Amino acid sequence: MNVLIIGGGAREHALAWKLNRSSRVRDLFAIPGNVGIASIGKCFEISTSDFVQIKEIVLQYQIGMVIVGPENPLEQGIVDFFQSESSLEKVMIIGPTKKGAILESSKAYAKAFMKKYNIPTAKSISVTKETIDQGRAFLQNQYPPYVLKADGLAAGKGVMILDYQKKAESSLEEMLGGQFGKASKTVVIEEYLNGIEMSCFVLIDQNSYLILPFAKDYKRIGEKDSGLNTGGMGAVSPVPFITPEINQKIENEIVIPTVNGIKQENLGFRGVLFIGLTNVNGQPKVMEYNVRFGDPEAEVVIPRINNDLMDIFLALANNTLSEIQLDINPQSAATVMAVSGGYPTNYTTGEHITGIEETQTKNTFIFHAGTQMGKNDRILTNGGRVLTVTSLGNNHHQALERSYRRMASVRFNRKYIRRDIGYDL
Ligand code: AMP
Ligand code: GLY
Repeated sequence: MNVLIIGGGAREHALAWKLNRSSRVRDLFAIPGNVGIASIGKCFEISTSDFVQIKEIVLQYQIGMVIVGPENPLEQGIVDFFQSESSLEKVMIIGPTKKGAILESSKAYAKAFMKKYNIPTAKSISVTKETIDQGRAFLQNQYPPYVLKADGLAAGKGVMILDYQKKAESSLEEMLGGQFGKASKTVVIEEYLNGIEMSCFVLIDQNSYLILPFAKDYKRIGEKDSGLNTGGMGAVSPVPFITPEINQKIENEIVIPTVNGIKQENLGFRGVLFIGLTNVNGQPKVMEYNVRFGDPEAEVVIPRINNDLMDIFLALANNTLSEIQLDINPQSAATVMAVSGGYPTNYTTGEHITGIEETQTKNTFIFHAGTQMGKNDRILTNGGRVLTVTSLGNNHHQALERSYRRMASVRFNRKYIRRDIGYDL
């Protein structure tokens, strides 16, 4: 079968790399892809929002399955579009419809959902301009720091964590005043959760669910988790803090009620649900839902799956997930991200990258994120997050050591990495 991947990050490269090993996949395609994906498939410079052009590619290249990496096309209704086009009737597409994507695209909806189904999460209130006084009153009853979140998608920038109540109040006014455009017309104010964050991925079809290995990502730009939030600077899997007891709590108190709630609300969710969790003194609580794989979590979770990934996606599309026997590599995986200096604020692109010839060793893999092909086959940087190095090892120490060693030979002007991924393990 021919497979099309939507997206162009390291998550999508990890998906492509794994699917490239499947005997069921004939040719791989990506929109827009990146230089790494282009080494194993054909990439098209098309916007992930241009569904009509995507449809033309699907028909022209006889694509049997489409896998959607990022949240934006899902929120924009790519799955609904495929379902409404008779010429695409036979094409499988992995991801929820717009209705299901609301678990990520509206934080206010997600919080109301968690409340209704008794899913442990931070106390919160959702406010608009009209109800701002209730927001102020809520803030007065909280201890610092204060957490404010734009309701809608804001490219990972919509969460503010503030130390002072006065600052939180003025931030609330700014957000409701349009700081994030439409996304912050409603703002969720939350209790601050103090604990270790971890990521749980659940595949959900219309009959059952399947929990993938846990991962932990390192979101801040600076070492020891300091500085601004980024898309993610590295990740590890498994997560040693998750004891069998916490694991059970996550499944019983969070995954099962979430899956039930999805059914009750008729969200028709079929795809990957990413549950962002915080472990607060042994009690896992939901920080957020996303409706896709995490990036860079995918870069450590996918390499640990021994199954043919296509078998899993086909089962998801056919509602036969319950027949899948997951086969997980017990080894540890660690990934370290190289970013352009200045990220996540201002950075330059177009820098020449050396030392990434695709000579993959058995245990170490490079996944491209923001890369592009320049003149004379020179690979250039093309984004904030540039590429990530994932390694497998007998423990986290060995996996990290392998990734850092390989990363040392990757060079570009103003390259930055966090040197302390896994420091807290
Ligand atoms: P979110 O987009 O909801 O995942 O938020 C992005 C990041 O903000 C999370 O990964 C956390 O580091 C932080 N964050 C979000 N909500 C809270 C909270 N209630 N308490 C503490 N930190 C939070
Ligand atoms: N790593 C967090 C995310 O993908 O949103």
